[in-house]
Amino acid sequence: MNNIQYILIFDSGVGGLYIYKKVSEKLPNYNYLYFFDNVFFPYSEKSEGFIVFNTLRIIRSIMKSYLLSLIIIACNTVSTIMLSLLRFLIDIPIVGVVPSVKLAVSLTSNGIIGLIATKNTVSCLYIRKLVKRFANQCKFYLLGSTELVHIAQNKMYGLDISFDKIVFILRFFTEMLKLPDVIVLGCTHYSFLLSEFGEIFGSKIKLIDSSLVFVDHVCSIIKNNSYFCSYLYPFNKVLCLKIDSSLLNVFTLLKKYGFLELEQLYF
Ligand code: DGL
Repeated sequence: MNNIQYILIFDSGVGGLYIYKKVSEKLPNYNYLYFFDNVFFPYSEKSEGFIVFNTLRIIRSIMKSYLLSLIIIACNTVSTIMLSLLRFLIDIPIVGVVPSVKLAVSLTSNGIIGLIATKNTVSCLYIRKLVKRFANQCKFYLLGSTELVHIAQNKMYGLDISFDKIVFILRFFTEMLKLPDVIVLGCTHYSFLLSEFGEIFGSKIKLIDSSLVFVDHVCSIIKNNSYFCSYLYPFNKVLCLKIDSSLLNVFTLLKKYGFLELEQLYF
């Protein structure tokens, strides 16, 4: 292993590309590795034990070949389950996207807040504690959906998606007698459905994209810390668990994001 530093961006799928794009546009002179799990995606309904085991073995395997300066967990599901555990076990700076609950509390006028995230995220202990601590005086409604993750990923691959299906899933909120005035998107895949959500919820409901809030935080950490090396000719690469013909859609998408190299990880 040479001493070239890389910033790792980790997601279960391609939702984290949104974070990659925003961070790398603001800070282009760093080497980025983007990992997506094309064997175990989606993580929405996987057991917490599996997510912990799988994430650790992936990150440890990447660390064997690359010198990581920062790990960006671009997956709310992983962050909410194990961000503190990761920080405890891995001696590298780690930041992770989590649903922007505190911001939602500061923006709500009617005290009714919604969160749309994966099934794991809405049911995990971290979110229950966060809501209890910061949103105790608000009514907080949680919608967990795996189907939206698939729809978002298909949209990114340029496949047809059903708007009616999204309307149907979101009726959890739209059919409420008193609607939330703020809804937090707590899954990185959902950033790619912002226009559909905006159309369905209308202008009276503020949508908070947790990924966007997180990007500012990540950029300020990298910019304000001389420990992270910048490079004149940066090199970006994608890592995944399996290279096969099912990756055709992904290749086209990754090229759009400027990636030219894809590598398979081995444990
Ligand atoms: N993109 C991930 C998140 O932010 C999860 C998608 C999934 O694997 O279910 O939670």
